[in-house]
Amino acid sequence: MTDEAALEQTRKAIQKWKKKRGSLIMALHEIQGIYGYVPWDHAKVVAEEMGVALARIYEVLTFYNFFKLESPGKYIISVCDGTACHIKGGASVIDAFAKHLNINPGETTPDRLFHMQIVRCLGCCGLAPVVVVNGKTYGKVSPADVPSIIDEWKKKEAL
Ligand code: FES
Repeated sequence: MTDEAALEQTRKAIQKWKKKRGSLIMALHEIQGIYGYVPWDHAKVVAEEMGVALARIYEVLTFYNFFKLESPGKYIISVCDGTACHIKGGASVIDAFAKHLNINPGETTPDRLFHMQIVRCLGCCGLAPVVVVNGKTYGKVSPADVPSIIDEWKKKEAL
């Protein structure tokens, strides 16, 4: 995904929070759910779209320990464990990533290539179980698909 496409994705993702009072944290939370952290250029999009000063966003991001301003790994694997994905076997997909990468959810591989996080609903429940890697969505993922997803990103790295 290009940077422009990623920024556009962020713009779309936060539309639903725009009109709700006090929803800045939810919007930032959603961005971190997609990227594993809140990239600064995406924080700027939030500022523009929600009419909030960048300084206020920086304040929020640094006040809550939960938010990360730097990428914890090059490729962020978000495995959904929201209700629909959980029912369709999301937990076994999480286990498969944990086994193949030898890390637990919330951890990064020692080479800092992969970071795995669990998210609650990526907004495409019809594709459950869903995995997103750096903005690319994989639907109806089974544990057997996990090695090829990891390989795809490793090959990208080797190019
Ligand atoms: S519950 Fe996984 S995408 Fe909605």
